[in-house]
Amino acid sequence: MIKFTSILFLFPVFVFLLATKIAAITYNPLTLNGTAVGNIEDQSVVYYNISWSEGQAKTINLTLSTCSTFEGSSNLILYASNYSFDNSLALGNYSYSSVDAGLASLSITGYSPMFIAVSSSDSQYSQSYIGGNHDKTSNSAYQTEYELSAGNNFTFTQYNETKFLFAQDTDFQAALLITGNLTTNDTSVIPNYQIYVNPTDSAFDKQIGQLSRSFCAYRGNPSTLNINNADLSMTVRGLGPFAKEQFYLKGLSPNTSYTAYVVKPNIDAYGGTTYPPITFTTNVGTTCQLIYDLEFCSEVAYSVPGNAAAYSALSLASWYNQQAYGYYQNFTYTLDQYPCNATALSIYSLFRNCSDCLQSYRNWLCAAVIPRCADITDNSTFLVYRNNNSRYPLIDEVVRPGPYKEVLPCAHLCYTLASSCPVDLGFSCPRSGFGLEESYGEISNATGVIACNAPGVEFYESVASFLQIPWLSFIILFLIWCLVL
Ligand SMILES: *[C@@H]1O[C@H](CO)[C@@H](O)[C@H](O)[C@H]1NC(C)=O
Ligand SMILES: *[C@@H]1O[C@H](CO)[C@@H](O)[C@H](O)[C@H]1NC(C)=O
Ligand SMILES: *[C@@H]1O[C@H](CO)[C@@H](O)[C@H](O)[C@H]1NC(C)=O
Ligand SMILES: *[C@@H]1O[C@H](CO)[C@@H](O)[C@H](O)[C@H]1NC(C)=O
Ligand SMILES: *[C@@H]1O[C@H](CO)[C@@H](O)[C@H](O)[C@H]1NC(C)=O
Ligand SMILES: *[C@@H]1O[C@H](CO)[C@@H](O)[C@H](O)[C@H]1NC(C)=O
Ligand SMILES: *[C@@H]1O[C@H](CO)[C@@H](O)[C@H](O)[C@H]1NC(C)=O
Ligand SMILES: *[C@@H]1O[C@H](CO)[C@@H](O)[C@H](O)[C@H]1NC(C)=O
Ligand SMILES: *[C@@H]1O[C@H](CO)[C@@H](O)[C@H](O)[C@H]1NC(C)=O
Ligand SMILES: *[C@@H]1O[C@H](CO)[C@@H](O)[C@H](O)[C@H]1NC(C)=O
Ligand SMILES: *[C@@H]1O[C@H](CO)[C@@H](O)[C@H](O)[C@H]1NC(C)=O
Ligand SMILES: *[C@@H]1O[C@H](CO)[C@@H](O)[C@H](O)[C@H]1NC(C)=O
Repeated sequence: MIKFTSILFLFPVFVFLLATKIAAITYNPLTLNGTAVGNIEDQSVVYYNISWSEGQAKTINLTLSTCSTFEGSSNLILYASNYSFDNSLALGNYSYSSVDAGLASLSITGYSPMFIAVSSSDSQYSQSYIGGNHDKTSNSAYQTEYELSAGNNFTFTQYNETKFLFAQDTDFQAALLITGNLTTNDTSVIPNYQIYVNPTDSAFDKQIGQLSRSFCAYRGNPSTLNINNADLSMTVRGLGPFAKEQFYLKGLSPNTSYTAYVVKPNIDAYGGTTYPPITFTTNVGTTCQLIYDLEFCSEVAYSVPGNAAAYSALSLASWYNQQAYGYYQNFTYTLDQYPCNATALSIYSLFRNCSDCLQSYRNWLCAAVIPRCADITDNSTFLVYRNNNSRYPLIDEVVRPGPYKEVLPCAHLCYTLASSCPVDLGFSCPRSGFGLEESYGEISNATGVIACNAPGVEFYESVASFLQIPWLSFIILFLIWCLVL
């Protein structure tokens, strides 16, 4: 959605000023479907005219972006009219829009020529305002740089209020940020999204925050970190078949809150699309390491028990992946002995086949062998403290992470596995009160809280999405074994 904002109480000011007989105004020509970049002094107005040859009405999408400004400046206001501003203009003979968070948008329909004014005035009594083009000693400290575009069936700068950047997880020095769905499932091309990341409330963060909807405000790179500090890649992980771009952002400070923006530049044109910011916080403790893009456990993109002194994120990812894959391979040999491809009558369950079994084994295995690690200072009650008692003992022997906190796998992974695989395989889940709580977690109903681990769990933010999953109705098992490693 493009947001249009107006400041109602300001427009009588302009009416008054327009009604005042203004000496000859100089219009700067603005090209149809073009952009003008300018500087405007405080308490003044800059005028533009646009013309085109055809004698037909056009709808023009004007955007006015503030690129940089000074402390205490007034927001720019964009005015457009079919009439020259030299004449008195009755209310209704012009349209206007005030800049909000750096951006004003105005869609106008009319015949050539059209007239546009960019105003930095907030007072009808301002001397510099009346008359429009007074000689005035320039003071560069009180100038606002702007970009004015007149799109012909094109909007140069737009703010899309749909959240488009997500923080998948963080560790003490890195964060994995990911875009929303792109419109393609093609992962071979990395699009030109840009990110700008600053410690929350730092000077840069405040500077961007004031102008965050303006695309040109990012042009001077007011950021501590940007895509040059990130490994860029594409993934189809998560819901839907859509590609997403991911930014593995490195060099962060521990125990720090960051604000991140993503923007999409237009190709071969001024402007682009801006989106709302996200914030994320890095870990205090150094035992968790963020891994992603595992070949077999492809849904894993979270912090795991690590040892940054001994393992890079890449080698850690490869080790965990290999562990899970080893079990999976052996399991496929076992499963091969069941009549998976036999006729419907001999299939072990009317509901499930061997592909379901393999898939649910894989989901369960990856979550069980690759623990989701939480910051040691996180006191959430659903976390389990581990100190040399990892659920998968090789973690303690090989990785040697030291004390960490674990987000338990989600219980539904176990139920799904037990109900999807042949009963003779003996998969069973612990019962409530008899080990379930020690081995498995439950999905939290609180937004944004990941209280148990499962593939893509960060893509569901509420329990609602899980309640609709039909496996709940299949749960039939009263079980002997605990499905823990
Ligand atoms: C805003 O972004 C969302 C998510 O990418 C997209 O579905 C929507 O069409 C966009 N809206 C506009 C007006 O571009
Ligand atoms: C636009 O402004 C320029 C410069 O002031 C002027 O020469 C031109 O005639 C104007 N065009 C129209 C259509 O008013
Ligand atoms: C300009 O004229 C057109 C056609 O007469 C009218 O629809 C439009 O509202 C006018 N625009 C402004 C900004 O007054
Ligand atoms: C506006 O642009 C779209 C595609 O960008 C095109 O399909 C449409 O015909 C254009 N409309 C006009 C009036 O030019
Ligand atoms: C121009 O603005 C109008 C009104 O907001 C909007 O409906 C239209 O989609 C915009 N056109 C383009 C090409 O963005
Ligand atoms: C991506 O698309 C899938 C499938 O349509 C949808 O379930 C999911 O919510 C979308 N993700 C975002 C971040 O919009
Ligand atoms: C990607 O999209 C193409 C065409 O839309 C489709 O044929 C293909 O099956 C999709 N691939 C995946 C992995 O979803
Ligand atoms: C307007 O400019 C944009 C960006 O350069 C371009 O994509 C679009 O085709 C242009 N439209 C017209 C009608 O020239
Ligand atoms: C897989 O099976 C082989 C042969 O029984 C065994 O040596 C190996 O340890 C098993 N691998 C795993 C990861 O269990
Ligand atoms: C079942 O069929 C699939 C694909 O047709 C094949 O890959 C698999 O090996 C078969 N399994 C058995 C046990 O025959
Ligand atoms: C967690 O609990 C410990 C001990 O009770 C306390 O010192 C610490 O401040 C708590 N951490 C947070 C983040 O609340
Ligand atoms: C969420 O869980 C809490 C604690 O388990 C419970 O008190 C609350 O009613 C639940 N809210 C909803 C909407 O289910």
